[in-house]
Amino acid sequence: MFEGNRVIAHTRSRYPIFQSPMTWIARAPLVSAVAAAGGMGLLESSARDLSMTTREFAAIRKATNQPFGVNLPVRYLQSDPKEERAIIDWLLEQGVHFMTTSAGDPGRYVRVLKDAGVIVYHATANLRGALKAVDAGVDGLIVEGAESAGMRNPDEIHSFALLQAVREKVDVPIVAAGGIVDGRGMAAAFALGAEGVTMGTRFVASVESPVHINYKNAIVDATITGTILTDNPPRARARGLRTPYALAVAEGSRERLPPGAQLEMLYVNGDVENTSGSAGESAGLIHEIKPVRQIIDDTITGFWREIDRLAALRR
Ligand SMILES: Cc1cc2nc3c(=O)[nH]c(=O)nc-3n(C[C@H](O)[C@H](O)[C@H](O)COP(=O)(O)O)c2cc1C
Repeated sequence: MFEGNRVIAHTRSRYPIFQSPMTWIARAPLVSAVAAAGGMGLLESSARDLSMTTREFAAIRKATNQPFGVNLPVRYLQSDPKEERAIIDWLLEQGVHFMTTSAGDPGRYVRVLKDAGVIVYHATANLRGALKAVDAGVDGLIVEGAESAGMRNPDEIHSFALLQAVREKVDVPIVAAGGIVDGRGMAAAFALGAEGVTMGTRFVASVESPVHINYKNAIVDATITGTILTDNPPRARARGLRTPYALAVAEGSRERLPPGAQLEMLYVNGDVENTSGSAGESAGLIHEIKPVRQIIDDTITGFWREIDRLAALRR
């Protein structure tokens, strides 16, 4: 199974399936469930808080002996260089073998991580960023199509073209992000040049995800046009649920909530209407809240079903 798959060789996980790093959400309960089910769970560190990282890290280690990784969001961490250094030093002391970088230039960390023997993948949403990361020495790429949830660049390309464009130009393994919720999407990503996939929105609507049930239900209820991109100054945009709040922000009749406000309002209190929870176009493909293990098992079963179906075309 997955003979010669470089993503599995790098992550040491059973399957080439990642759970995307997500502020506040990608912590011990979700990450450990993904790792235990054979995926690569990624602990987020965007809070720039060593005590949070150490606490969540210990909780994951206690819950599972399976491999997991940590994401370093460059722009967020570098705004507090003291905490940044402390977090990275501490992670290296723990012997973390797999890390991802996102939101910024991976060159800031690649040398120090590689010198410590860490395998590093960088998340990028365009060809320029992919080439720059490979030049900086990363071992693999997470290629995020414009379908993806969360912060987006204004000049993004959707996965169908982007994966092929990156595959054409680089040799390192690619993990596809955006629009994937099952084995069909995974098989399609592999056909376009990926050797692994990552899912964000799918895992938000999992049993183990810590967010309020209203947010999970809003993802399940979303149609394929159920998300919207809104401006997120100074230069980013954000893809989230198409709620009354998001529509008002898009037409300029309502101020965007300050960063972090959604955490309390949506994640904790379940106020779906007055927020726009991060969600990808993939929300329209999610029809049920499932346990993490079932999401991963169904994805793998569906993947091989699609591979067999396509292989049968040759007979
Ligand atoms: C609720 C939520 C929060 C997210 N937060 C982050 C984040 O903090 N940092 C990050 O690099 N990406 C974040 N993302 C984006 C994911 O890393 C990933 O690119 C995206 O979810 C892939 O698309 P999908 O949701 O269709 O699977 C977030 C996504 C979601 C759904």
